Amino acid sequence: MERRTFLNWVGVGTLASFFPVAIAACQSDGGNASRAETETPEMDSSIREDGFQALGTIEELDEKGVIVDKRNAPKPVMIFRDPDTNELVAINSMCTHQGCTVQLNAEAKELACPCHGSKFALDGKVVNPPATENLDIFEVKQEDNLLLVKVG
Ligand code: FES
Repeated sequence: MERRTFLNWVGVGTLASFFPVAIAACQSDGGNASRAETETPEMDSSIREDGFQALGTIEELDEKGVIVDKRNAPKPVMIFRDPDTNELVAINSMCTHQGCTVQLNAEAKELACPCHGSKFALDGKVVNPPATENLDIFEVKQEDNLLLVKVG
């Protein structure tokens, strides 16, 4: 093998071996590091003696506008603020028609199901079929920075 050919192979090999390292160094940890920094460290979501469990933080709610927590399936919890009163609302986000997840439309002050068009008022009452049953409302309260919901 000629010296020039050998050096080309060594150069390509060296470049190839550093390429994945260079790519990894340029990545932002796949978003994991930044996400971990914004999450509440080790929030205990177990059910307390009083029946409440922490399902989010005020910070998270203020940042996102809505929290959907599916740990309590088949009673997934959606937490948001009533746009008129600023009161916390926690509701079962599973549509009572066939179980799709309703979406909060804060401007229209309604919860709309994307599957078949059912609509609910922010207090869970059906305002547009095909759903005929209201969404369950859960008791919710703030304790320090935590959002506590009693999913019963
Ligand atoms: Fe919601 Fe059908 S599942 S309208």
